Amino acid sequence: KIKQVKAREVLDSRGNPTVSADVVLEDGSFGTAMCPSGASTGEKEAVELRDGDQHRYNGKGVLKAVSNINDEISNALTGRDVESQEAFDKLLIELDGTPFKSKLGANALLPVSMAFSRAMSHSRKVPLYRQLYERRDYIMPVPCMNVINGGRHADNNLDFQEFMIAPHNASSFREAIRMGEETFHALKGILKAKGYYTGVGDEGGFAPNLSTNEEAVELILESIVKAGYDPGKDISICLDPAASEMWDGSKYLFYKSTQQRMESSELISLWQSWVTKYPIVLLEDGMGEDDWQGWKQLTQAMGKNIELVGDDIFCTNPAILQKGIDERVANSILIKLNQIGTVTETLDTIRLANKHGYHQFLSHRSGETEDTFLADLAVASNAGHLKTGSGCRSERIAKYNRLLLIEEELGVAATFADGETFKNWNNK
Ligand code: PGA
Ligand code: ZN
Repeated sequence: KIKQVKAREVLDSRGNPTVSADVVLEDGSFGTAMCPSGASTGEKEAVELRDGDQHRYNGKGVLKAVSNINDEISNALTGRDVESQEAFDKLLIELDGTPFKSKLGANALLPVSMAFSRAMSHSRKVPLYRQLYERRDYIMPVPCMNVINGGRHADNNLDFQEFMIAPHNASSFREAIRMGEETFHALKGILKAKGYYTGVGDEGGFAPNLSTNEEAVELILESIVKAGYDPGKDISICLDPAASEMWDGSKYLFYKSTQQRMESSELISLWQSWVTKYPIVLLEDGMGEDDWQGWKQLTQAMGKNIELVGDDIFCTNPAILQKGIDERVANSILIKLNQIGTVTETLDTIRLANKHGYHQFLSHRSGETEDTFLADLAVASNAGHLKTGSGCRSERIAKYNRLLLIEEELGVAATFADGETFKNWNNK
Protein backbone atom coordinates (compact mmCIF):
# COMPACT_ATOMS: atom_id res chain seq x y z
CA LYS A 1 0.00 0.00 0.00
CA ILE A 2 1.28 3.44 -0.90
CA LYS A 3 1.57 5.85 2.00
CA GLN A 4 3.19 8.89 0.42
CA VAL A 5 4.50 10.27 -2.89
CA LYS A 6 6.55 13.43 -2.75
CA ALA A 7 8.84 15.44 -5.05
CA ARG A 8 11.10 18.46 -5.17
CA GLU A 9 13.34 20.33 -7.61
CA VAL A 10 17.06 19.42 -7.42
CA LEU A 11 20.00 19.88 -9.82
CA ASP A 12 21.60 17.75 -12.51
CA SER A 13 25.29 17.55 -13.48
CA ARG A 14 24.99 20.58 -15.80
CA GLY A 15 23.49 22.65 -13.00
CA ASN A 16 20.02 22.53 -14.53
CA PRO A 17 16.94 21.69 -12.46
CA THR A 18 15.61 18.15 -12.41
CA VAL A 19 13.03 16.18 -10.43
CA SER A 20 13.71 14.12 -7.31
CA ALA A 21 10.82 11.94 -6.10
CA ASP A 22 10.14 9.73 -3.06
CA VAL A 23 7.70 6.88 -2.59
CA VAL A 24 6.90 5.60 0.91
CA LEU A 25 4.99 2.36 1.44
CA GLU A 26 2.68 1.57 4.36
CA ASP A 27 5.27 -0.79 5.88
CA GLY A 28 7.68 2.16 6.09
CA SER A 29 9.78 1.15 3.08
CA PHE A 30 11.23 4.18 1.34
CA GLY A 31 12.48 4.75 -2.20
CA THR A 32 13.87 7.86 -3.86
CA ALA A 33 15.13 8.63 -7.38
CA MET A 34 16.26 11.46 -9.65
CA CYS A 35 15.54 12.05 -13.31
CA PRO A 36 18.37 12.45 -15.89
CA SER A 37 18.20 14.77 -18.91
CA GLY A 38 19.58 14.66 -22.47
CA ALA A 39 21.12 17.32 -24.74
CA SER A 40 21.08 15.53 -28.10
CA THR A 41 17.56 14.21 -27.67
CA GLY A 42 15.51 12.16 -30.12
CA GLU A 43 12.37 13.77 -31.50
CA LYS A 44 10.15 10.92 -30.31
CA GLU A 45 11.33 10.88 -26.73
CA ALA A 46 8.75 11.15 -23.98
CA VAL A 47 8.27 14.80 -23.07
CA GLU A 48 10.49 16.51 -20.52
CA LEU A 49 8.35 19.20 -18.91
CA ARG A 50 10.13 22.54 -18.38
CA ASP A 51 8.46 25.57 -16.81
CA GLY A 52 9.53 28.06 -19.47
CA ASP A 53 9.57 30.82 -16.86
CA GLN A 54 12.55 32.91 -18.00
CA HIS A 55 12.89 34.41 -14.50
CA ARG A 56 13.93 31.06 -13.08
CA TYR A 57 16.86 28.97 -14.38
CA ASN A 58 16.51 30.45 -17.89
CA GLY A 59 13.15 28.75 -18.30
CA LYS A 60 14.50 25.34 -17.33
CA GLY A 61 12.75 25.04 -13.95
CA VAL A 62 10.75 21.86 -13.31
CA LEU A 63 8.25 23.14 -10.72
CA LYS A 64 5.29 22.08 -12.91
CA ALA A 65 6.55 18.50 -13.05
CA VAL A 66 7.16 18.63 -9.28
CA SER A 67 3.65 19.86 -8.56
CA ASN A 68 2.20 17.26 -10.94
CA ILE A 69 3.74 14.68 -8.60
CA ASN A 70 2.81 16.43 -5.35
CA ASP A 71 -0.77 17.02 -6.48
CA GLU A 72 -2.22 14.81 -9.18
CA ILE A 73 0.04 11.77 -8.89
CA SER A 74 0.13 11.83 -5.11
CA ASN A 75 -3.67 12.19 -4.88
CA ALA A 76 -4.22 9.29 -7.24
CA LEU A 77 -1.72 6.92 -5.64
CA THR A 78 -1.82 7.59 -1.91
CA GLY A 79 -3.70 4.83 -0.08
CA ARG A 80 -3.74 2.65 -3.20
CA ASP A 81 -2.90 -1.05 -2.95
CA VAL A 82 -0.34 -1.71 -5.64
CA GLU A 83 1.25 -5.13 -5.93
CA SER A 84 3.67 -4.82 -8.82
CA GLN A 85 5.76 -2.42 -10.88
CA GLU A 86 3.51 -3.13 -13.88
CA ALA A 87 0.38 -2.18 -11.96
CA PHE A 88 2.05 0.93 -10.55
CA ASP A 89 3.34 2.14 -13.91
CA LYS A 90 -0.01 1.38 -15.54
CA LEU A 91 -1.62 3.80 -13.11
CA LEU A 92 0.97 6.46 -13.96
CA ILE A 93 0.50 5.96 -17.70
CA GLU A 94 -3.30 6.13 -17.43
CA LEU A 95 -3.09 9.21 -15.26
CA ASP A 96 -1.07 10.96 -17.94
CA GLY A 97 -3.12 9.56 -20.81
CA THR A 98 -1.06 11.03 -23.66
CA PRO A 99 1.16 9.10 -26.12
CA PHE A 100 4.35 10.95 -25.20
CA LYS A 101 3.61 11.73 -21.54
CA SER A 102 3.19 15.41 -22.32
CA LYS A 103 0.47 16.06 -19.74
CA LEU A 104 2.32 15.22 -16.53
CA GLY A 105 5.81 14.98 -18.04
CA ALA A 106 8.13 11.99 -18.35
CA ASN A 107 10.34 13.80 -15.84
CA ALA A 108 7.45 13.51 -13.36
CA LEU A 109 6.48 9.89 -14.14
CA LEU A 110 9.97 8.38 -14.34
CA PRO A 111 11.43 9.36 -10.95
CA VAL A 112 8.20 8.19 -9.27
CA SER A 113 8.37 4.89 -11.16
CA MET A 114 12.03 4.42 -10.19
CA ALA A 115 11.38 5.41 -6.57
CA PHE A 116 8.64 2.77 -6.40
CA SER A 117 11.15 0.10 -7.60
CA ARG A 118 13.48 1.11 -4.80
CA ALA A 119 10.71 1.17 -2.18
CA MET A 120 9.66 -2.33 -3.28
CA SER A 121 13.24 -3.57 -3.15
CA HIS A 122 13.49 -2.32 0.43
CA SER A 123 10.13 -3.79 1.34
CA ARG A 124 11.11 -7.19 -0.09
CA LYS A 125 14.67 -6.87 1.30
CA VAL A 126 16.29 -7.62 -2.05
CA PRO A 127 18.84 -5.53 -3.95
CA LEU A 128 17.40 -3.30 -6.66
CA TYR A 129 18.74 -5.42 -9.53
CA ARG A 130 16.89 -8.45 -8.12
CA GLN A 131 13.74 -6.39 -7.67
CA LEU A 132 13.97 -5.40 -11.36
CA TYR A 133 14.67 -8.94 -12.58
CA GLU A 134 15.20 -12.05 -10.50
CA ARG A 135 17.82 -14.44 -11.89
CA ARG A 136 20.21 -16.97 -10.41
CA ASP A 137 23.25 -15.64 -12.28
CA TYR A 138 23.89 -12.16 -13.61
CA ILE A 139 26.19 -10.77 -16.29
CA MET A 140 28.37 -7.80 -15.35
CA PRO A 141 28.43 -5.31 -18.25
CA VAL A 142 31.46 -4.14 -20.24
CA PRO A 143 31.84 -0.44 -19.32
CA CYS A 144 32.06 1.57 -22.55
CA MET A 145 33.85 4.68 -21.33
CA ASN A 146 33.39 7.90 -23.28
CA VAL A 147 36.95 9.25 -23.12
CA ILE A 148 36.71 11.94 -25.81
CA ASN A 149 33.64 14.20 -25.99
CA GLY A 150 32.48 16.29 -28.95
CA GLY A 151 29.24 17.27 -30.65
CA ARG A 152 26.65 18.85 -28.35
CA HIS A 153 28.53 17.68 -25.26
CA ALA A 154 31.60 19.89 -25.56
CA ASP A 155 32.69 23.28 -26.89
CA ASN A 156 35.45 21.92 -29.14
CA ASN A 157 35.74 21.28 -32.88
CA LEU A 158 34.77 17.59 -32.96
CA ASP A 159 31.56 16.89 -34.88
CA PHE A 160 31.20 13.39 -33.50
CA GLN A 161 29.79 13.21 -29.99
CA GLU A 162 31.32 10.18 -28.28
CA PHE A 163 34.56 8.23 -28.63
CA MET A 164 34.43 5.30 -26.23
CA ILE A 165 36.80 2.57 -25.09
CA ALA A 166 35.45 -0.90 -24.26
CA PRO A 167 37.79 -2.93 -22.01
CA HIS A 168 36.33 -6.38 -22.71
CA ASN A 169 39.28 -8.72 -22.23
CA ALA A 170 39.03 -8.73 -18.44
CA SER A 171 38.26 -11.35 -15.84
CA SER A 172 35.89 -9.09 -13.93
CA PHE A 173 34.13 -5.74 -14.04
CA ARG A 174 36.65 -4.48 -11.47
CA GLU A 175 39.55 -5.33 -13.80
CA ALA A 176 37.78 -3.80 -16.79
CA ILE A 177 37.32 -0.50 -14.94
CA ARG A 178 41.01 -0.53 -14.00
CA MET A 179 41.99 -1.05 -17.66
CA GLY A 180 39.65 1.74 -18.71
CA GLU A 181 40.94 4.17 -16.10
CA GLU A 182 44.58 3.41 -16.92
CA THR A 183 43.84 4.15 -20.57
CA PHE A 184 41.93 7.33 -19.64
CA HIS A 185 44.93 8.59 -17.68
CA ALA A 186 47.36 7.57 -20.44
CA LEU A 187 45.23 9.59 -22.85
CA LYS A 188 45.46 12.63 -20.61
CA GLY A 189 49.25 12.34 -20.64
CA ILE A 190 49.34 12.07 -24.42
CA LEU A 191 47.05 15.08 -24.88
CA LYS A 192 49.13 17.11 -22.46
CA ALA A 193 52.40 16.17 -24.19
CA LYS A 194 50.95 17.26 -27.53
CA GLY A 195 49.89 20.60 -26.08
CA TYR A 196 46.17 19.80 -26.26
CA TYR A 197 43.57 21.00 -23.79
CA THR A 198 42.72 18.40 -21.11
CA GLY A 199 39.47 19.89 -19.77
CA VAL A 200 36.47 17.57 -19.96
CA GLY A 201 33.03 17.66 -21.57
CA ASP A 202 29.56 16.84 -20.19
CA GLU A 203 30.25 13.10 -19.89
CA GLY A 204 33.74 13.46 -18.45
CA GLY A 205 35.71 12.69 -21.61
CA PHE A 206 38.46 15.04 -22.74
CA ALA A 207 37.31 17.78 -25.09
CA PRO A 208 40.35 18.97 -27.07
CA ASN A 209 40.34 20.80 -30.38
CA LEU A 210 41.90 18.31 -32.82
CA SER A 211 42.97 18.52 -36.45
CA THR A 212 40.29 16.00 -37.53
CA ASN A 213 37.59 13.78 -36.00
CA GLU A 214 39.75 10.83 -36.95
CA GLU A 215 42.62 12.08 -34.81
CA ALA A 216 40.45 11.31 -31.76
CA VAL A 217 40.48 7.62 -32.69
CA GLU A 218 44.24 7.69 -33.35
CA LEU A 219 44.92 9.29 -29.95
CA ILE A 220 42.76 6.72 -28.19
CA LEU A 221 44.60 3.84 -29.89
CA GLU A 222 47.89 5.41 -28.82
CA SER A 223 46.65 5.65 -25.23
CA ILE A 224 45.52 2.00 -25.18
CA VAL A 225 49.03 0.95 -26.22
CA LYS A 226 50.65 3.37 -23.77
CA ALA A 227 48.58 1.85 -20.95
CA GLY A 228 49.97 -1.56 -21.91
CA TYR A 229 46.98 -3.03 -23.71
CA ASP A 230 46.38 -4.47 -27.14
CA PRO A 231 43.82 -2.51 -29.21
CA GLY A 232 41.14 -4.85 -30.47
CA LYS A 233 42.25 -7.75 -28.30
CA ASP A 234 41.96 -6.16 -24.85
CA ILE A 235 40.21 -2.89 -25.50
CA SER A 236 38.08 -1.98 -28.53
CA ILE A 237 36.48 1.23 -29.66
CA CYS A 238 32.80 2.25 -29.71
CA LEU A 239 31.47 5.39 -31.37
CA ASP A 240 28.37 7.52 -31.02
CA PRO A 241 28.66 10.32 -33.59
CA ALA A 242 25.02 11.28 -32.81
CA ALA A 243 24.48 11.83 -36.52
CA SER A 244 20.97 13.28 -36.01
CA GLU A 245 22.68 16.45 -34.79
CA MET A 246 24.55 16.72 -38.10
CA TRP A 247 21.54 16.14 -40.36
CA ASP A 248 20.49 19.37 -42.09
CA GLY A 249 17.47 17.94 -43.87
CA SER A 250 19.22 16.32 -46.81
CA LYS A 251 22.88 15.88 -45.88
CA TYR A 252 25.25 15.51 -42.95
CA LEU A 253 26.94 18.79 -42.05
CA PHE A 254 30.28 18.75 -40.26
CA TYR A 255 29.03 21.71 -38.28
CA LYS A 256 31.93 22.08 -35.85
CA SER A 257 34.94 21.45 -38.08
CA THR A 258 35.14 21.77 -41.86
CA GLN A 259 31.50 22.71 -42.69
CA GLN A 260 31.68 19.91 -45.27
CA ARG A 261 28.33 18.28 -46.22
CA MET A 262 28.12 14.54 -46.88
CA GLU A 263 25.47 12.37 -48.55
CA SER A 264 24.24 9.37 -46.53
CA SER A 265 26.21 7.09 -48.84
CA GLU A 266 29.41 9.07 -48.25
CA LEU A 267 28.97 8.89 -44.48
CA ILE A 268 28.38 5.13 -44.75
CA SER A 269 31.61 4.82 -46.73
CA LEU A 270 33.40 6.77 -44.02
CA TRP A 271 32.12 4.35 -41.34
CA GLN A 272 33.12 1.38 -43.48
CA SER A 273 36.65 2.71 -43.92
CA TRP A 274 36.99 3.42 -40.19
CA VAL A 275 35.74 -0.04 -39.25
CA THR A 276 38.25 -1.60 -41.67
CA LYS A 277 41.10 0.50 -40.29
CA TYR A 278 40.32 0.57 -36.57
CA PRO A 279 39.13 -1.95 -33.94
CA ILE A 280 35.61 -0.49 -33.80
CA VAL A 281 33.01 -2.94 -32.49
CA LEU A 282 29.98 -0.69 -32.00
CA LEU A 283 28.55 2.28 -33.88
CA GLU A 284 25.59 4.12 -32.35
CA ASP A 285 23.52 6.60 -34.35
CA GLY A 286 25.81 6.36 -37.38
CA MET A 287 22.85 7.83 -39.28
CA GLY A 288 20.31 10.47 -38.27
CA GLU A 289 16.82 9.71 -36.97
CA ASP A 290 15.18 11.46 -39.96
CA ASP A 291 17.27 9.48 -42.44
CA TRP A 292 15.40 6.17 -42.16
CA GLN A 293 16.56 5.24 -45.69
CA GLY A 294 20.19 5.94 -44.80
CA TRP A 295 19.78 3.83 -41.66
CA LYS A 296 18.50 0.92 -43.79
CA GLN A 297 21.47 1.25 -46.12
CA LEU A 298 23.89 1.42 -43.20
CA THR A 299 22.36 -1.75 -41.77
CA GLN A 300 22.62 -3.48 -45.11
CA ALA A 301 26.24 -2.44 -45.51
CA MET A 302 27.52 -3.12 -41.99
CA GLY A 303 24.81 -4.86 -39.98
CA LYS A 304 26.52 -8.23 -40.27
CA ASN A 305 29.94 -6.94 -39.20
CA ILE A 306 29.50 -4.81 -36.11
CA GLU A 307 26.92 -3.72 -33.58
CA LEU A 308 24.75 -0.89 -34.91
CA VAL A 309 22.87 0.79 -32.07
CA GLY A 310 19.77 2.89 -32.62
CA ASP A 311 19.39 5.70 -30.07
CA ASP A 312 17.55 8.76 -31.45
CA ILE A 313 15.84 6.62 -34.06
CA PHE A 314 14.20 4.27 -31.51
CA CYS A 315 13.96 6.40 -28.35
CA THR A 316 13.59 3.23 -26.20
CA ASN A 317 10.06 3.03 -27.64
CA PRO A 318 8.76 -0.53 -28.28
CA ALA A 319 6.47 0.59 -31.13
CA ILE A 320 9.31 2.32 -33.00
CA LEU A 321 11.67 -0.57 -32.27
CA GLN A 322 9.11 -2.94 -33.79
CA LYS A 323 9.12 -0.87 -36.97
CA GLY A 324 12.92 -1.04 -37.00
CA ILE A 325 12.83 -4.81 -36.57
CA ASP A 326 10.31 -5.16 -39.42
CA GLU A 327 12.34 -2.98 -41.77
CA ARG A 328 15.78 -4.23 -40.73
CA VAL A 329 17.10 -1.06 -39.21
CA ALA A 330 20.04 -1.47 -36.79
CA ASN A 331 20.76 -4.64 -34.80
CA SER A 332 20.86 -3.18 -31.30
CA ILE A 333 19.01 -0.55 -29.29
CA LEU A 334 20.13 2.08 -26.82
CA ILE A 335 18.15 1.95 -23.59
CA LYS A 336 17.51 5.21 -21.73
CA LEU A 337 14.83 5.18 -19.03
CA ASN A 338 13.72 8.76 -19.54
CA GLN A 339 13.24 8.38 -23.29
CA ILE A 340 10.16 6.25 -22.56
CA GLY A 341 9.31 7.36 -19.03
CA THR A 342 8.56 4.32 -16.84
CA VAL A 343 10.51 1.31 -15.57
CA THR A 344 7.94 -1.16 -16.94
CA GLU A 345 8.04 0.23 -20.47
CA THR A 346 11.84 0.20 -20.38
CA LEU A 347 11.79 -3.48 -19.42
CA ASP A 348 9.20 -4.15 -22.16
CA THR A 349 11.49 -2.60 -24.77
CA ILE A 350 14.42 -4.70 -23.53
CA ARG A 351 12.26 -7.83 -23.75
CA LEU A 352 11.16 -7.01 -27.30
CA ALA A 353 14.76 -6.42 -28.38
CA ASN A 354 15.83 -9.73 -26.84
CA LYS A 355 13.06 -11.61 -28.58
CA HIS A 356 14.30 -10.43 -31.96
CA GLY A 357 18.04 -10.79 -31.37
CA TYR A 358 18.66 -7.07 -31.02
CA HIS A 359 21.32 -6.35 -28.42
CA GLN A 360 20.71 -3.70 -25.79
CA PHE A 361 23.14 -0.95 -24.85
CA LEU A 362 22.21 0.63 -21.51
CA SER A 363 22.85 4.34 -21.21
CA HIS A 364 23.05 7.36 -18.95
CA ARG A 365 22.17 10.87 -20.23
CA SER A 366 24.57 13.76 -20.75
CA GLY A 367 22.74 15.52 -17.90
CA GLU A 368 22.96 13.08 -14.98
CA THR A 369 22.69 12.95 -11.22
CA GLU A 370 24.23 10.82 -8.49
CA ASP A 371 21.35 8.37 -8.90
CA THR A 372 22.72 4.90 -9.73
CA PHE A 373 19.52 3.17 -10.89
CA LEU A 374 21.10 2.58 -14.30
CA ALA A 375 23.79 0.32 -12.80
CA ASP A 376 21.19 -2.01 -11.30
CA LEU A 377 19.16 -1.98 -14.50
CA ALA A 378 22.23 -2.91 -16.55
CA VAL A 379 22.85 -5.93 -14.33
CA ALA A 380 19.17 -6.90 -14.10
CA SER A 381 18.80 -6.92 -17.88
CA ASN A 382 21.94 -9.04 -18.55
CA ALA A 383 22.52 -6.66 -21.47
CA GLY A 384 26.29 -7.13 -21.25
CA HIS A 385 27.37 -3.56 -21.91
CA LEU A 386 26.57 -0.05 -20.79
CA LYS A 387 27.84 3.48 -21.25
CA THR A 388 27.91 5.82 -18.31
CA GLY A 389 30.74 8.23 -18.99
CA SER A 390 34.50 8.39 -18.91
CA GLY A 391 36.88 7.87 -16.04
CA CYS A 392 35.96 11.00 -14.07
CA ARG A 393 33.01 13.17 -12.86
CA SER A 394 31.23 11.68 -9.88
CA GLU A 395 27.78 11.53 -11.50
CA ARG A 396 29.35 9.04 -13.98
CA ILE A 397 31.65 7.28 -11.51
CA ALA A 398 28.72 6.75 -9.12
CA LYS A 399 27.32 4.16 -11.55
CA TYR A 400 30.68 2.42 -11.95
CA ASN A 401 31.11 2.37 -8.16
CA ARG A 402 27.65 0.85 -7.73
CA LEU A 403 28.58 -1.84 -10.29
CA LEU A 404 31.75 -2.63 -8.30
CA LEU A 405 29.59 -3.19 -5.21
CA ILE A 406 27.06 -5.31 -7.12
CA GLU A 407 29.85 -7.50 -8.49
CA GLU A 408 31.23 -8.00 -4.98
CA GLU A 409 27.79 -8.79 -3.58
CA LEU A 410 27.01 -11.31 -6.34
CA GLY A 411 30.32 -13.16 -5.94
CA VAL A 412 30.24 -16.36 -8.00
CA ALA A 413 26.78 -15.48 -9.32
CA ALA A 414 28.42 -12.71 -11.41
CA THR A 415 30.13 -13.31 -14.75
CA PHE A 416 31.84 -10.51 -16.60
CA ALA A 417 30.72 -10.17 -20.20
CA ASP A 418 33.42 -10.48 -22.85
CA GLY A 419 33.85 -9.32 -26.45
CA GLU A 420 30.96 -11.53 -27.55
CA THR A 421 28.61 -9.16 -25.83
CA PHE A 422 28.97 -7.01 -28.94
CA LYS A 423 26.65 -8.05 -31.75
CA ASN A 424 28.56 -9.72 -34.62
CA TRP A 425 31.75 -9.94 -32.60
CA ASN A 426 32.73 -13.08 -34.52
CA ASN A 427 32.09 -11.61 -37.96
CA LYS A 428 34.12 -8.49 -37.63
P1 PGA B 1 22.15 12.85 -24.57
O1 PGA B 1 23.35 12.07 -25.27
O2 PGA B 1 21.97 12.30 -23.21
O3 PGA B 1 22.63 14.26 -24.60
O4 PGA B 1 20.95 12.61 -25.45
C1 PGA B 1 23.58 10.71 -25.11
C2 PGA B 1 23.53 9.99 -26.43
O5 PGA B 1 23.32 10.58 -27.50
O6 PGA B 1 23.70 8.77 -26.42
ZN1 ZN C 1 23.41 8.46 -28.63
